[in-house]
Amino acid sequence: MNSHNFSHFLSFLKCPNDGSDLQNTDDNFLYFSNFKYPIINQIPVLIKEPQNHLLAHYNDITNYIERSLVQIKNLNVYLKSNLPKTSLERIRSKIHHLDQHLQEIESLFNESIYNFYSNHYDQVKVVINDNESSKSNSFLMSYYTNVFRDWFWDTEENLFYTNFLKLNDKKSNNLILGSGPSRFSYDLALKSPDNHFIASDLNYLFLHIANKITKAPLELTYLPEHPVSLKKIGVKLKSQYLKPLKNLSFFNTDFKGNHFKKKSFNNIIAPWFIDILEIPLEDIIKKINYLLEEDGEFHYIGAYSFQEFGEDSFYSPEEIIEQFQTYGFKLGQSQILEVPYLKNPYNAQYRMEKILFATFKKIKHYDFHGFKVDYCNFPSWISNHNETIKVDPNLEMRKNIYHTYHQLYSKISGAVSINKLSKVFSQEQNISQTQAKGIITEHFKKIYKDLIKF
Ligand SMILES: C[S@@+](CC[C@H](N)C(=O)[O-])C[C@H]1O[C@@H](n2cnc3c(N)ncnc32)[C@H](O)[C@@H]1O
Repeated sequence: MNSHNFSHFLSFLKCPNDGSDLQNTDDNFLYFSNFKYPIINQIPVLIKEPQNHLLAHYNDITNYIERSLVQIKNLNVYLKSNLPKTSLERIRSKIHHLDQHLQEIESLFNESIYNFYSNHYDQVKVVINDNESSKSNSFLMSYYTNVFRDWFWDTEENLFYTNFLKLNDKKSNNLILGSGPSRFSYDLALKSPDNHFIASDLNYLFLHIANKITKAPLELTYLPEHPVSLKKIGVKLKSQYLKPLKNLSFFNTDFKGNHFKKKSFNNIIAPWFIDILEIPLEDIIKKINYLLEEDGEFHYIGAYSFQEFGEDSFYSPEEIIEQFQTYGFKLGQSQILEVPYLKNPYNAQYRMEKILFATFKKIKHYDFHGFKVDYCNFPSWISNHNETIKVDPNLEMRKNIYHTYHQLYSKISGAVSINKLSKVFSQEQNISQTQAKGIITEHFKKIYKDLIKF
Protein backbone atom coordinates (compact mmCIF):
# COMPACT_ATOMS: atom_id res chain seq x y z
CA MET A 1 0.00 0.00 0.00
CA ASN A 2 1.22 3.51 -0.74
CA SER A 3 1.74 6.05 1.97
CA HIS A 4 -0.60 9.03 1.76
CA ASN A 5 -1.60 11.61 4.34
CA PHE A 6 -4.81 9.62 4.65
CA SER A 7 -3.03 6.25 5.18
CA HIS A 8 -3.88 6.45 8.88
CA PHE A 9 -7.55 6.08 7.99
CA LEU A 10 -7.40 3.24 5.48
CA SER A 11 -8.74 0.61 7.89
CA PHE A 12 -11.75 2.88 8.63
CA LEU A 13 -12.99 2.77 5.06
CA LYS A 14 -15.63 0.59 3.51
CA CYS A 15 -16.82 0.34 -0.06
CA PRO A 16 -19.70 2.81 -0.64
CA ASN A 17 -21.29 0.26 -2.99
CA ASP A 18 -21.07 -3.09 -1.22
CA GLY A 19 -19.57 -2.33 2.19
CA SER A 20 -16.49 -4.52 1.61
CA ASP A 21 -13.06 -3.81 3.12
CA LEU A 22 -10.30 -1.94 1.34
CA GLN A 23 -7.90 -4.28 -0.49
CA ASN A 24 -5.21 -1.98 -1.76
CA THR A 25 -4.28 1.53 -2.90
CA ASP A 26 -1.90 3.09 -5.38
CA ASP A 27 -1.44 6.73 -6.37
CA ASN A 28 -4.66 6.84 -8.36
CA PHE A 29 -7.17 4.48 -6.81
CA LEU A 30 -8.55 2.88 -3.68
CA TYR A 31 -9.28 -0.76 -4.53
CA PHE A 32 -12.10 -2.69 -2.86
CA SER A 33 -13.11 -6.21 -3.92
CA ASN A 34 -15.52 -5.15 -6.65
CA PHE A 35 -15.10 -1.42 -7.04
CA LYS A 36 -12.36 1.14 -7.16
CA TYR A 37 -12.49 4.86 -6.36
CA PRO A 38 -10.25 7.62 -7.68
CA ILE A 39 -7.65 9.46 -5.65
CA ILE A 40 -7.27 12.84 -7.32
CA ASN A 41 -4.26 14.88 -6.21
CA GLN A 42 -4.13 12.85 -2.96
CA ILE A 43 -7.84 13.33 -2.27
CA PRO A 44 -9.91 10.13 -2.31
CA VAL A 45 -13.24 10.47 -4.11
CA LEU A 46 -15.09 7.93 -1.99
CA ILE A 47 -18.51 8.34 -3.53
CA LYS A 48 -20.87 5.64 -4.68
CA GLU A 49 -20.83 6.71 -8.32
CA PRO A 50 -17.53 8.55 -8.65
CA GLN A 51 -17.85 8.85 -12.39
CA ASN A 52 -21.28 10.51 -12.26
CA HIS A 53 -20.20 12.64 -9.35
CA LEU A 54 -17.18 13.95 -11.24
CA LEU A 55 -19.24 14.47 -14.34
CA ALA A 56 -21.77 16.51 -12.36
CA HIS A 57 -18.90 18.57 -11.00
CA TYR A 58 -17.62 18.98 -14.53
CA ASN A 59 -21.01 20.22 -15.65
CA ASP A 60 -21.32 22.53 -12.65
CA ILE A 61 -18.03 24.22 -13.53
CA THR A 62 -18.90 24.44 -17.19
CA ASN A 63 -22.29 25.97 -16.35
CA TYR A 64 -20.73 28.41 -13.93
CA ILE A 65 -18.15 29.53 -16.46
CA GLU A 66 -20.80 29.78 -19.12
CA ARG A 67 -23.07 31.94 -16.95
CA SER A 68 -20.17 34.18 -15.98
CA LEU A 69 -19.20 34.65 -19.63
CA VAL A 70 -22.74 35.83 -20.34
CA GLN A 71 -22.35 38.23 -17.43
CA ILE A 72 -19.13 39.56 -18.96
CA LYS A 73 -20.90 40.01 -22.30
CA ASN A 74 -23.66 41.98 -20.60
CA LEU A 75 -21.18 44.12 -18.73
CA ASN A 76 -19.46 44.91 -22.01
CA VAL A 77 -22.78 46.17 -23.35
CA TYR A 78 -23.05 48.55 -20.37
CA LEU A 79 -19.61 49.88 -21.22
CA LYS A 80 -21.00 51.28 -24.43
CA SER A 81 -23.74 53.17 -22.65
CA ASN A 82 -23.74 56.65 -21.26
CA LEU A 83 -22.90 55.83 -17.68
CA PRO A 84 -21.09 58.06 -15.16
CA LYS A 85 -17.29 57.82 -15.28
CA THR A 86 -16.98 55.97 -11.97
CA SER A 87 -19.60 53.41 -12.98
CA LEU A 88 -17.72 52.70 -16.20
CA GLU A 89 -14.55 52.29 -14.16
CA ARG A 90 -16.30 49.85 -11.84
CA ILE A 91 -17.63 47.81 -14.74
CA ARG A 92 -14.26 47.72 -16.48
CA SER A 93 -12.63 46.53 -13.29
CA LYS A 94 -15.33 43.93 -12.73
CA ILE A 95 -14.87 42.53 -16.25
CA HIS A 96 -11.13 42.32 -15.77
CA HIS A 97 -11.31 40.57 -12.39
CA LEU A 98 -14.14 38.28 -13.36
CA ASP A 99 -12.15 37.19 -16.36
CA GLN A 100 -9.12 36.47 -14.16
CA HIS A 101 -11.29 34.59 -11.71
CA LEU A 102 -12.68 32.39 -14.48
CA GLN A 103 -9.20 31.59 -15.73
CA GLU A 104 -8.19 30.59 -12.21
CA ILE A 105 -11.22 28.35 -11.79
CA GLU A 106 -10.56 26.72 -15.12
CA SER A 107 -6.96 26.07 -14.26
CA LEU A 108 -7.82 24.62 -10.81
CA PHE A 109 -10.34 22.42 -12.52
CA ASN A 110 -7.97 21.35 -15.29
CA GLU A 111 -5.16 20.41 -12.93
CA SER A 112 -7.51 18.25 -10.85
CA ILE A 113 -10.77 16.76 -12.03
CA TYR A 114 -10.28 17.36 -15.72
CA ASN A 115 -6.80 15.91 -15.74
CA PHE A 116 -7.89 12.84 -13.89
CA TYR A 117 -11.05 12.56 -15.89
CA SER A 118 -9.16 12.57 -19.18
CA ASN A 119 -6.57 10.03 -18.09
CA HIS A 120 -8.60 7.55 -16.09
CA TYR A 121 -12.19 8.12 -16.92
CA ASP A 122 -12.92 4.73 -18.44
CA GLN A 123 -11.35 2.91 -15.52
CA VAL A 124 -13.91 4.06 -12.97
CA LYS A 125 -16.82 1.71 -12.93
CA VAL A 126 -20.27 3.26 -13.21
CA VAL A 127 -23.04 1.77 -11.18
CA ILE A 128 -26.16 1.62 -13.25
CA ASN A 129 -29.66 0.57 -12.32
CA ASP A 130 -29.23 2.22 -9.01
CA ASN A 131 -31.90 4.42 -7.50
CA GLU A 132 -29.65 5.86 -4.86
CA SER A 133 -27.43 7.65 -7.35
CA SER A 134 -25.38 10.42 -5.81
CA LYS A 135 -27.13 13.05 -7.99
CA SER A 136 -24.36 15.38 -7.05
CA ASN A 137 -25.70 18.69 -5.87
CA SER A 138 -22.45 20.17 -4.78
CA PHE A 139 -23.47 23.75 -5.76
CA LEU A 140 -19.97 24.30 -6.73
CA MET A 141 -19.50 27.99 -6.31
CA SER A 142 -22.03 28.88 -3.66
CA TYR A 143 -19.56 29.13 -0.79
CA TYR A 144 -16.58 30.24 -2.86
CA THR A 145 -16.16 33.51 -0.92
CA ASN A 146 -15.44 31.35 2.10
CA VAL A 147 -12.22 30.21 0.43
CA PHE A 148 -10.98 33.77 0.95
CA ARG A 149 -12.48 34.08 4.42
CA ASP A 150 -10.66 30.92 5.40
CA TRP A 151 -7.25 31.28 3.81
CA PHE A 152 -6.51 34.90 2.97
CA TRP A 153 -7.06 36.78 6.21
CA ASP A 154 -7.53 35.77 9.82
CA THR A 155 -11.14 35.83 10.80
CA GLU A 156 -12.82 36.21 14.11
CA GLU A 157 -15.24 33.52 12.98
CA ASN A 158 -12.68 30.75 12.75
CA LEU A 159 -10.96 31.93 15.94
CA PHE A 160 -14.25 31.64 17.81
CA TYR A 161 -14.71 28.10 16.54
CA THR A 162 -11.21 26.90 17.39
CA ASN A 163 -11.32 28.47 20.84
CA PHE A 164 -14.64 26.88 21.61
CA LEU A 165 -13.75 23.37 20.60
CA LYS A 166 -11.96 21.33 23.24
CA LEU A 167 -10.97 17.92 21.91
CA ASN A 168 -10.15 15.92 25.01
CA ASP A 169 -8.68 12.68 23.66
CA LYS A 170 -5.04 12.17 22.90
CA LYS A 171 -4.47 10.22 19.67
CA SER A 172 -8.06 10.69 18.68
CA ASN A 173 -9.59 10.24 15.23
CA ASN A 174 -11.69 13.15 14.14
CA LEU A 175 -14.07 13.74 11.28
CA ILE A 176 -15.13 17.18 10.11
CA LEU A 177 -18.35 17.08 8.09
CA GLY A 178 -18.98 19.55 5.26
CA SER A 179 -15.57 21.13 5.88
CA GLY A 180 -15.89 23.26 2.71
CA PRO A 181 -12.84 25.47 2.24
CA SER A 182 -11.50 23.71 5.38
CA ARG A 183 -9.43 26.33 7.25
CA PHE A 184 -11.14 25.41 10.50
CA SER A 185 -10.11 21.78 9.93
CA TYR A 186 -6.53 22.91 9.32
CA ASP A 187 -6.47 25.01 12.50
CA LEU A 188 -7.79 22.09 14.55
CA ALA A 189 -5.16 19.76 13.14
CA LEU A 190 -2.44 22.35 13.74
CA LYS A 191 -3.54 22.76 17.34
CA SER A 192 -3.62 19.01 18.06
CA PRO A 193 -0.65 17.37 16.33
CA ASP A 194 -1.23 14.03 18.13
CA ASN A 195 -4.72 13.69 16.72
CA HIS A 196 -5.77 12.73 13.21
CA PHE A 197 -8.32 14.68 11.20
CA ILE A 198 -10.39 14.11 8.11
CA ALA A 199 -11.87 17.17 6.40
CA SER A 200 -14.74 15.80 4.32
CA ASP A 201 -16.97 17.52 1.80
CA LEU A 202 -19.07 16.78 -1.26
CA ASN A 203 -17.46 19.61 -3.17
CA TYR A 204 -14.18 18.34 -4.60
CA LEU A 205 -12.93 21.74 -5.76
CA PHE A 206 -12.95 23.22 -2.24
CA LEU A 207 -10.89 20.32 -0.96
CA HIS A 208 -8.49 20.66 -3.86
CA ILE A 209 -8.00 24.37 -3.15
CA ALA A 210 -7.54 23.70 0.58
CA ASN A 211 -5.08 20.89 -0.06
CA LYS A 212 -3.08 23.10 -2.42
CA ILE A 213 -3.05 26.09 -0.07
CA THR A 214 -1.79 23.99 2.83
CA LYS A 215 1.20 23.00 0.69
CA ALA A 216 2.13 26.40 -0.81
CA PRO A 217 0.63 29.90 -1.04
CA LEU A 218 -1.89 30.35 -3.83
CA GLU A 219 -2.93 33.49 -5.72
CA LEU A 220 -6.63 33.97 -6.38
CA THR A 221 -8.85 36.84 -7.44
CA TYR A 222 -11.48 38.00 -4.97
CA LEU A 223 -14.53 39.99 -6.04
CA PRO A 224 -16.21 41.32 -2.90
CA GLU A 225 -19.97 41.52 -3.04
CA HIS A 226 -20.00 44.96 -1.41
CA PRO A 227 -16.66 46.53 -2.41
CA VAL A 228 -15.23 49.04 0.05
CA SER A 229 -14.02 51.31 -2.77
CA LEU A 230 -13.72 51.68 -6.50
CA LYS A 231 -10.14 50.47 -6.30
CA LYS A 232 -11.28 47.23 -4.66
CA ILE A 233 -13.87 45.92 -7.13
CA GLY A 234 -11.60 42.94 -7.45
CA VAL A 235 -8.26 42.11 -5.85
CA LYS A 236 -5.67 39.49 -6.58
CA LEU A 237 -4.63 38.01 -3.25
CA LYS A 238 -2.00 35.58 -2.09
CA SER A 239 -2.84 33.07 0.61
CA GLN A 240 -0.83 32.92 3.80
CA TYR A 241 2.20 30.67 4.10
CA LEU A 242 1.18 27.68 6.22
CA LYS A 243 2.90 24.86 7.98
CA PRO A 244 2.28 21.59 6.10
CA LEU A 245 0.51 19.03 8.27
CA LYS A 246 0.71 15.25 8.31
CA ASN A 247 -2.35 14.74 10.51
CA LEU A 248 -4.93 16.30 8.18
CA SER A 249 -6.37 14.56 5.14
CA PHE A 250 -9.14 15.50 2.76
CA PHE A 251 -11.88 13.13 1.62
CA ASN A 252 -14.40 13.89 -1.08
CA THR A 253 -17.48 12.13 0.28
CA ASP A 254 -21.23 12.49 0.45
CA PHE A 255 -22.59 12.39 4.00
CA LYS A 256 -25.50 10.38 2.62
CA GLY A 257 -23.13 7.63 1.47
CA ASN A 258 -21.69 4.73 3.46
CA HIS A 259 -17.94 4.97 3.36
CA PHE A 260 -16.72 4.89 6.98
CA LYS A 261 -17.14 1.88 9.26
CA LYS A 262 -19.16 2.13 12.43
CA LYS A 263 -17.50 3.51 15.57
CA SER A 264 -14.59 4.93 13.58
CA PHE A 265 -14.30 8.36 15.20
CA ASN A 266 -13.74 9.85 18.64
CA ASN A 267 -15.04 13.24 17.55
CA ILE A 268 -17.29 14.36 14.75
CA ILE A 269 -17.45 18.08 14.12
CA ALA A 270 -20.11 19.70 11.96
CA PRO A 271 -19.50 23.41 11.32
CA TRP A 272 -22.47 24.93 9.51
CA PHE A 273 -23.38 21.62 8.04
CA ILE A 274 -26.36 19.72 9.34
CA ASP A 275 -28.75 22.61 8.86
CA ILE A 276 -28.19 22.55 5.09
CA LEU A 277 -28.91 18.84 4.61
CA GLU A 278 -32.33 17.99 3.31
CA ILE A 279 -32.59 14.98 5.55
CA PRO A 280 -34.68 14.72 8.72
CA LEU A 281 -32.59 15.67 11.75
CA GLU A 282 -33.22 12.35 13.49
CA ASP A 283 -31.65 10.42 10.57
CA ILE A 284 -28.64 12.73 10.58
CA ILE A 285 -28.18 12.13 14.31
CA LYS A 286 -28.51 8.35 13.93
CA LYS A 287 -25.82 8.35 11.27
CA ILE A 288 -23.50 10.48 13.43
CA ASN A 289 -24.16 8.12 16.34
CA TYR A 290 -23.24 5.13 14.16
CA LEU A 291 -19.90 6.67 13.17
CA LEU A 292 -18.84 7.57 16.72
CA GLU A 293 -16.95 5.44 19.22
CA GLU A 294 -18.92 4.40 22.33
CA ASP A 295 -17.97 7.52 24.31
CA GLY A 296 -17.31 9.69 21.28
CA GLU A 297 -18.43 13.30 21.02
CA PHE A 298 -20.34 15.25 18.44
CA HIS A 299 -19.67 18.97 18.15
CA TYR A 300 -22.36 21.12 16.61
CA ILE A 301 -21.45 24.57 15.38
CA GLY A 302 -24.02 26.46 13.41
CA ALA A 303 -27.45 27.95 13.14
CA TYR A 304 -28.98 28.74 16.48
CA SER A 305 -32.28 27.58 15.10
CA PHE A 306 -32.75 25.98 11.72
CA GLN A 307 -35.42 24.84 9.38
CA GLU A 308 -37.22 21.70 10.30
CA PHE A 309 -36.92 19.38 7.34
CA GLY A 310 -40.06 19.24 5.25
CA GLU A 311 -41.92 21.76 7.40
CA ASP A 312 -42.26 25.48 7.15
CA SER A 313 -41.04 26.08 10.67
CA PHE A 314 -37.82 26.28 12.62
CA TYR A 315 -36.36 24.09 15.31
CA SER A 316 -35.60 25.94 18.49
CA PRO A 317 -32.20 25.14 20.10
CA GLU A 318 -34.05 23.16 22.79
CA GLU A 319 -35.53 20.88 20.11
CA ILE A 320 -32.15 20.30 18.46
CA ILE A 321 -30.80 19.32 21.89
CA GLU A 322 -33.77 17.09 22.64
CA GLN A 323 -33.39 15.25 19.33
CA PHE A 324 -29.79 14.43 20.18
CA GLN A 325 -30.84 13.19 23.62
CA THR A 326 -33.50 10.97 22.03
CA TYR A 327 -30.97 9.25 19.77
CA GLY A 328 -28.26 8.25 22.22
CA PHE A 329 -26.50 11.47 23.27
CA LYS A 330 -26.05 13.47 26.44
CA LEU A 331 -25.57 17.24 26.27
CA GLY A 332 -22.11 18.45 27.31
CA GLN A 333 -21.10 22.09 27.13
CA SER A 334 -23.26 24.42 25.10
CA GLN A 335 -23.10 28.11 24.39
CA ILE A 336 -24.82 30.67 22.25
CA LEU A 337 -22.55 33.32 20.81
CA GLU A 338 -22.75 36.19 18.36
CA VAL A 339 -20.10 35.87 15.68
CA PRO A 340 -19.39 38.12 12.65
CA TYR A 341 -20.06 36.44 9.32
CA LEU A 342 -17.90 37.29 6.30
CA LYS A 343 -16.23 40.26 7.95
CA ASN A 344 -13.22 41.12 5.84
CA PRO A 345 -10.98 43.99 4.73
CA TYR A 346 -12.51 44.23 1.23
CA ASN A 347 -16.21 43.88 1.91
CA ALA A 348 -18.14 46.89 3.20
CA GLN A 349 -20.85 44.80 4.84
CA TYR A 350 -21.01 41.89 7.16
CA ARG A 351 -23.56 40.56 9.58
CA MET A 352 -23.54 39.22 13.09
CA GLU A 353 -24.92 35.75 13.50
CA LYS A 354 -26.20 34.01 16.56
CA ILE A 355 -24.51 30.65 16.72
CA LEU A 356 -25.15 27.57 18.76
CA PHE A 357 -22.06 25.67 19.90
CA ALA A 358 -22.95 22.40 21.56
CA THR A 359 -21.12 19.20 22.41
CA PHE A 360 -23.00 15.92 22.74
CA LYS A 361 -21.50 12.80 24.28
CA LYS A 362 -22.56 9.44 22.89
CA ILE A 363 -24.08 7.21 25.56
CA LYS A 364 -25.96 4.62 23.51
CA HIS A 365 -25.10 3.05 20.15
CA TYR A 366 -27.50 2.87 17.20
CA ASP A 367 -26.78 0.83 14.10
CA PHE A 368 -27.60 2.77 10.98
CA HIS A 369 -28.84 1.13 7.80
CA GLY A 370 -28.62 4.00 5.34
CA PHE A 371 -30.71 6.99 4.45
CA LYS A 372 -34.02 6.67 2.67
CA VAL A 373 -33.59 6.94 -1.05
CA ASP A 374 -35.73 10.00 -1.48
CA TYR A 375 -36.70 12.65 1.03
CA CYS A 376 -37.71 14.95 -1.78
CA ASN A 377 -40.17 17.64 -0.98
CA PHE A 378 -41.86 18.49 -4.26
CA PRO A 379 -43.01 22.05 -4.94
CA SER A 380 -46.78 22.45 -4.62
CA TRP A 381 -47.30 23.40 -8.31
CA ILE A 382 -46.46 19.83 -9.31
CA SER A 383 -49.63 18.56 -7.70
CA ASN A 384 -51.74 21.74 -7.90
CA HIS A 385 -52.06 22.14 -11.65
CA ASN A 386 -53.59 25.62 -11.53
CA GLU A 387 -50.65 27.04 -9.66
CA THR A 388 -48.01 28.97 -11.58
CA ILE A 389 -44.76 27.11 -12.04
CA LYS A 390 -42.22 28.81 -9.83
CA VAL A 391 -38.83 29.20 -11.46
CA ASP A 392 -36.48 28.52 -8.57
CA PRO A 393 -32.68 28.22 -9.01
CA ASN A 394 -32.99 24.46 -9.63
CA LEU A 395 -35.42 24.96 -12.45
CA GLU A 396 -33.39 27.85 -13.82
CA MET A 397 -30.32 25.61 -13.92
CA ARG A 398 -32.31 22.85 -15.68
CA LYS A 399 -33.54 25.40 -18.20
CA ASN A 400 -29.93 26.32 -18.97
CA ILE A 401 -28.93 22.68 -19.27
CA TYR A 402 -31.82 21.83 -21.57
CA HIS A 403 -31.13 24.91 -23.62
CA THR A 404 -27.55 23.73 -24.04
CA TYR A 405 -28.66 20.23 -25.01
CA HIS A 406 -31.24 21.66 -27.36
CA GLN A 407 -28.46 23.53 -29.15
CA LEU A 408 -26.48 20.32 -29.28
CA TYR A 409 -29.31 18.21 -30.67
CA SER A 410 -30.26 20.79 -33.26
CA LYS A 411 -26.91 20.09 -34.91
CA ILE A 412 -27.36 16.35 -35.26
CA SER A 413 -28.33 16.09 -38.88
CA GLY A 414 -27.11 12.66 -39.95
CA ALA A 415 -23.88 14.17 -41.29
CA VAL A 416 -21.95 15.07 -38.19
CA SER A 417 -19.38 13.20 -36.10
CA ILE A 418 -18.60 13.66 -32.40
CA ASN A 419 -15.43 15.46 -33.44
CA LYS A 420 -17.30 17.93 -35.64
CA LEU A 421 -20.00 18.37 -33.04
CA SER A 422 -17.44 19.02 -30.30
CA LYS A 423 -15.75 21.66 -32.41
CA VAL A 424 -18.94 23.67 -32.95
CA PHE A 425 -20.17 23.07 -29.42
CA SER A 426 -16.86 24.16 -27.88
CA GLN A 427 -16.95 27.42 -29.84
CA GLU A 428 -20.55 28.13 -28.88
CA GLN A 429 -20.06 27.30 -25.24
CA ASN A 430 -16.63 28.86 -25.04
CA ILE A 431 -15.05 25.75 -23.61
CA SER A 432 -12.16 23.62 -24.84
CA GLN A 433 -12.80 21.02 -27.52
CA THR A 434 -11.70 18.19 -25.23
CA GLN A 435 -14.07 19.42 -22.57
CA ALA A 436 -16.88 19.62 -25.11
CA LYS A 437 -16.11 16.11 -26.32
CA GLY A 438 -16.20 14.80 -22.74
CA ILE A 439 -19.60 16.34 -22.11
CA ILE A 440 -21.04 15.11 -25.41
CA THR A 441 -19.78 11.53 -25.20
CA GLU A 442 -20.85 11.19 -21.58
CA HIS A 443 -24.27 12.50 -22.42
CA PHE A 444 -24.74 9.96 -25.19
CA LYS A 445 -23.35 7.13 -23.06
CA LYS A 446 -25.89 7.97 -20.40
CA ILE A 447 -28.73 7.93 -22.90
CA TYR A 448 -27.73 4.55 -24.27
CA LYS A 449 -27.29 3.16 -20.78
CA ASP A 450 -30.82 4.32 -19.93
CA LEU A 451 -32.08 2.69 -23.13
CA ILE A 452 -30.41 -0.59 -22.23
CA LYS A 453 -32.18 -0.53 -18.85
CA PHE A 454 -35.52 -0.68 -20.64
C1 LIG B 1 -22.63 25.98 4.74
S1 LIG B 1 -21.24 25.19 4.05
C2 LIG B 1 -20.16 25.10 5.43
C3 LIG B 1 -18.74 24.98 5.03
C4 LIG B 1 -17.76 25.07 6.21
N1 LIG B 1 -17.99 24.07 7.21
C5 LIG B 1 -17.81 26.45 6.81
O1 LIG B 1 -18.18 26.60 7.96
O2 LIG B 1 -17.46 27.39 6.07
C6 LIG B 1 -21.81 23.53 3.86
C7 LIG B 1 -20.80 22.58 3.21
O3 LIG B 1 -21.41 21.29 3.15
C8 LIG B 1 -21.06 20.69 1.91
N2 LIG B 1 -22.06 19.65 1.61
C9 LIG B 1 -23.34 19.81 1.17
N3 LIG B 1 -23.97 18.63 1.08
C10 LIG B 1 -23.08 17.68 1.47
C11 LIG B 1 -23.14 16.27 1.60
N4 LIG B 1 -24.24 15.58 1.28
N5 LIG B 1 -22.04 15.60 2.03
C12 LIG B 1 -20.90 16.30 2.34
N6 LIG B 1 -20.80 17.64 2.24
C13 LIG B 1 -21.86 18.32 1.81
C14 LIG B 1 -21.03 21.83 0.92
O4 LIG B 1 -20.25 21.52 -0.21
C15 LIG B 1 -20.43 22.95 1.78
O5 LIG B 1 -19.03 22.99 1.69
